[in-house]
Amino acid sequence: MKVGIVGCGDVSGLHVNAWRDVGASVTAVCDINEKTAMQFAEKWRIPSRHTSFSEMLQSEDLFAISICTPPQFHANLAIEALESGCHVVVEKPFTVTTKEADKVMDTLQNSSARLTVIHSQLFEPSMLRVMKRIKAGAIGRIVGMNVGILHSNDEPMASDRNHWCYRLPGGRFGENLPHPVYLLQAFLGKLKVKSVFTDKLGSCPWMPFDELRVILEADEKKIGTIYISFNAPGSQKTDVYTDIYGTGGAMQAGIYPVSSLIVTKPGRGIWLAENVIHQIKIGLSYLSTILAKQKGPRSFSATHALIIRSFVESIFGNGEPLITPEMGYETVHVVEQICRQIEKISVSKN
Ligand SMILES: NC(=O)c1ccc[n+]([C@@H]2O[C@H](COP(=O)([O-])OP(=O)(O)OC[C@H]3O[C@@H](n4cnc5c(N)ncnc54)[C@H](O)[C@@H]3O)[C@@H](O)[C@H]2O)c1
Repeated sequence: MKVGIVGCGDVSGLHVNAWRDVGASVTAVCDINEKTAMQFAEKWRIPSRHTSFSEMLQSEDLFAISICTPPQFHANLAIEALESGCHVVVEKPFTVTTKEADKVMDTLQNSSARLTVIHSQLFEPSMLRVMKRIKAGAIGRIVGMNVGILHSNDEPMASDRNHWCYRLPGGRFGENLPHPVYLLQAFLGKLKVKSVFTDKLGSCPWMPFDELRVILEADEKKIGTIYISFNAPGSQKTDVYTDIYGTGGAMQAGIYPVSSLIVTKPGRGIWLAENVIHQIKIGLSYLSTILAKQKGPRSFSATHALIIRSFVESIFGNGEPLITPEMGYETVHVVEQICRQIEKISVSKN
């Protein structure tokens, strides 16, 4: 299996190691910035590099490609790759708009190639444990869920006024909203946006808002909420966590940077805290993965590897991938609605 990577930025190394983990050879990379493509190819020992995606598709005989560019380019690159018969792994979000997503879905219908989307936080170790415990009935029937993302105000993307995230609908929020939305969808089902609130507490001149709250509703009146702040204390800090409420208790899972799980039962206080032991287990498993691989620079994401492995298995006839294009589509649909409301608030305030 020969694989190419398009976009050689922060996330791309995770794709190289994930593909290598399933036994594929990453043989080509492409970036519009020639120096970036060259440095990335050297760092990861990849033989061929390009600045034109069409040229990479034509000259390399690729089984699949990973799209790791800013979201604005995902749809067109995916369509071109699928039309050339390449399977596609696309970073979140699937696309920026549902209009773009419709075009990719049409192309998929007329192609034998397949596509998956990296909804990585769903498969962080704490979330895998949450799913297992919910299936075992640990907190009864789910009635609600909150996802929180707390950034300090010097978070690298937000504090770079020229960052591509500011060219997305919803600005900085448009970049990170896919994560909480797909997490909520996985546990609550199809979501409807009920209310969007924004606020500005900090002084960053190019961020119209730095606080976001969203209320969403799912079937059976289950409520999902999203809380994103760029005013958390500390420097260059990001915390991602979720609270899940059930008829028989609640769970709090730390997703990033610390994977943790606390289960609370009414009348019994904290019933289970899987933090210290869990951290040690995760640390050991990462260490053994790194030691076993030694294939490239040390950036390995077990979640990317899991999604790509399930995708390859699905291509060879072994079930569905963990993330289907339809799941990617549904997330774009909800993020698009939230971002439309953020833009509306922005216009009405100016
Ligand atoms: N799953 C996760 O946890 C996770 C984490 C980080 C980023 N992401 C996603 O990954 C994607 C990339 O993010 P990043 O932080 O690595 O971005 P980045 O800015 O670090 O890198 C993007 C690279 O793409 C290149 N590029 C831009 N347009 C291109 C084009 N048309 N053709 C070829 N190359 C092009 C740029 O020159 C740059 O080198 C985004 O969709 C982002 O949302 C996901």
